[in-house]
Amino acid sequence: MIPYNFLKTSGLARETLEEFIKSAVYFKSREKTEKTLVGKSIALVFFDPSLRTRASMQVGIYELGGNAVILEPGGTSWTLEHRENVVMDGDKTEHLKEFVRVLERYVSAIGVRTFAELKDWELERTDPILSAFAKYSTKPVINLESAMHHPCQSMADMMTIREKFGKTKKKVLLTWAWHPKPLPMAVPNSFALAAAQFGNDLRIAHPKGYELDNELMREIETHARENGGSIEITNDLNQAFENIDVVYAKSWGSKNFYGFPEKDVEFRANFRNDWIVDETKMSRTDNAIFMHCLPARRNVIVTDAVMDSPASVVIEQAENRLHIQKAIMATIIK
Ligand code: CP
Repeated sequence: MIPYNFLKTSGLARETLEEFIKSAVYFKSREKTEKTLVGKSIALVFFDPSLRTRASMQVGIYELGGNAVILEPGGTSWTLEHRENVVMDGDKTEHLKEFVRVLERYVSAIGVRTFAELKDWELERTDPILSAFAKYSTKPVINLESAMHHPCQSMADMMTIREKFGKTKKKVLLTWAWHPKPLPMAVPNSFALAAAQFGNDLRIAHPKGYELDNELMREIETHARENGGSIEITNDLNQAFENIDVVYAKSWGSKNFYGFPEKDVEFRANFRNDWIVDETKMSRTDNAIFMHCLPARRNVIVTDAVMDSPASVVIEQAENRLHIQKAIMATIIK
């Protein structure tokens, strides 16, 4: 079934995800040149910065024959309120209800990037801003990274793994890495979900205190079970890299410290020297490829030696953002 919105991969059938990859491979090979967006405009709403997402969406829309309208609330467009029934006497100029309902008179779909603020875990885990877009829009909404999910990234990641290894399931490590400040969980959440949906054996390594969302983990376990894969969680960094085909590094903040970033910074200082992907750890794997969504801080998340090694596929991942997003847009924007 063709999804109306593209907000996260869970809820989408494996066949639909496979179709996205198949279509993206055709786009990449240039065998598929359909211009499904001729005469159509797509809004790209960026509350937060971007290189890959913004450039690949803009180029993808152009290559499909369409026109990208880029809006930056709080930057070059009005600040936006998304909460219901608030007295707007603060710094927000326009309500999302009007913003969306005006915008959809001009465009055929709306892409949204809105990061977690890392202030209120219980609230942000519900993806309030993205959900408000989906609620008010009668046109398809595409998640370009929200508080909880980055499905365009995870589909590009699955495409990259497929290109490297074919259809057989792989032993995949998602490893937490030290970073000077807490970051959102959207990338690890979506990567773990998609890796499970594609039936891989997924190992997640992180220090105690950096667990992913409980409900999401249950969902990931269900997907793994239903698709012939498995899930393993470890806090043992030395064991984590053994018998692994794919190493995916990412830093994320602890849900225990949402609202208290200085406490997270103090706590994570314990892990600075160990939780980095380096050649020694990569040598414990089964000649694994190295993946990261980028941007990645060199010699913080991953050493130069690994980043610049033949094992690193980070540039391929970034390229595949273009192809998979074209596949997604060509499918859902009718
Ligand atoms: N990976 C990713 O989404 O990159 P940008 O933040 O540069 O868009």
